[in-house]
Amino acid sequence: MSPSLSKRLLIISNRLPTVIAQNEDGWSMKPGSGGLVTALAPIMRKNHGVWIGWPGCGDDAPLDKLLREFKDQQGYQLVPVPLSEEEVELYYRGFSNAAIWPMFHDLLGFCRFELPHWQAYNAVNQKFAAAIAEQAVPDDFVWVHDYQLMLVGAHLRDMGQQDRLAFFLHIPFPSPDLFRRLPWKIELIKGLLAYDQLGFQTLRDRRNFVQTATLLVPEVEVVSRKRHHTLLQWGDRIIKVGHYPISIDFTEFDQGARSHEVEDAAWYLHENLRGRQLVLGVDRLDYTKGIPERFLAFERALEKYPELIGRISLLQVVVPSRTLVPDYANLKEQLDQLAGRINARFGKPEWLPILYVFRCLERVQLLARYRTSEIALITPLRDGMNLVAKEYCASSVENNGVLILSEFAGAADQLGKHALLVNPYDTDGTADAIYQAFTMEPEERRQHMMHLRSDIRRNDVHRWLRRFVESADGDN
Ligand code: ADP
Ligand code: F6P
Repeated sequence: MSPSLSKRLLIISNRLPTVIAQNEDGWSMKPGSGGLVTALAPIMRKNHGVWIGWPGCGDDAPLDKLLREFKDQQGYQLVPVPLSEEEVELYYRGFSNAAIWPMFHDLLGFCRFELPHWQAYNAVNQKFAAAIAEQAVPDDFVWVHDYQLMLVGAHLRDMGQQDRLAFFLHIPFPSPDLFRRLPWKIELIKGLLAYDQLGFQTLRDRRNFVQTATLLVPEVEVVSRKRHHTLLQWGDRIIKVGHYPISIDFTEFDQGARSHEVEDAAWYLHENLRGRQLVLGVDRLDYTKGIPERFLAFERALEKYPELIGRISLLQVVVPSRTLVPDYANLKEQLDQLAGRINARFGKPEWLPILYVFRCLERVQLLARYRTSEIALITPLRDGMNLVAKEYCASSVENNGVLILSEFAGAADQLGKHALLVNPYDTDGTADAIYQAFTMEPEERRQHMMHLRSDIRRNDVHRWLRRFVESADGDN
């Protein structure tokens, strides 16, 4: 373990990594299930780490009691940053999710740039900074996460914080030309430059950031460029800008997918679909995920290759997300209509082309779908990484799955050589890839999936964490 990992970690993210639920036994607070939590939890426990974030629950939950119980059970502390309904509306739904989110995903048409949203974003970032300042002691590893909190570092500097500050962006960083459209571009880019270490998902994101920073703040200079990072100088400060593609806990998915429960659930799924190949899509309901475009490409495949009719089904699982942001609500309606139209056009009494499920799947059911689907169709218009692509491969324990992946997902950099890469805006090209996957021979599938799995096994979330933390001090 590196010396840096022995420091106390202060993790800051918009949401606390918890699931708060109420049932007949009362309230409970459990850790979330993402790879980030799995990777961080052991060192948070070991070094008495602190995680700061918005609890995201209503006032009726007994928060103090839940937080105490969480610390006793999990061995690390959560510090809540409560937000009022107005703050949630303006900072979270407004600036974070109706300005930054679409802009950073290259979808300028969805952006709403409104002054009150920006002001609330700034104020909430200051509130997070104040919560950090209260907790931090010298030598802590202070690590802020994601697009909702880009100005936290600058506010901490204003409060006199001298220690090192690290930041990781989980979503893409746009080109300078796109970023320039933001009315508050200078404030935001200078805000990011307040951190000492900036992590991005891909080399492209890192380059976009360096180009944007040097364009908008002419005093910023590139000191050196290495394989994994660029050093920038701004005044007397050196800023390390690196790329660290995030990943999953491979073993957790691989072992989970081999369990009896998953095997049974997978068998049961295919019993009902005998003789057909299952094409899987799993996403949050988000316009960046390219789900309508995917439905249209699937329809095109059925038109172009009639032999697919009755022999292939698209199972699309969508989990509700950000339902109070207007563009998200519209998307649900659009999908309902599209799936209805395509099913009416091609469906037969014994076969439906699109099986469309609108809910969060339990773990066993998710893994069973990953394990048993012959094809994964993952076609975001733009995505920071896309963990579903990695989860699918890690769960394809029979090595018989084919990954069709958008070239605009961060994961394509790593997995592109052994996936069928598609442009999600190209309906015909995606339809052709569906046909190619459908007709791919078992040996070719096996070869590609084995390579994909060994790459993800090697580059798992634990390695990502080590690389980021070690890079803070070292030369890598
Ligand atoms: P994003 O972070 O934009 O949502 P990712 O693909 O990186 O996209 O991560 C999505 C995560 O949410 C994955 O861990 C995936 O397992 C989970 N997920 C997505 N849809 C569902 C669903 N319907 N049911 C359960 N989990 C889901
Ligand atoms: O990928 C971006 C991200 O913010 C994730 O970190 C998060 O799990 C997901 O989107 C859901 O977002 P929200 O917190 O807005 O529901």
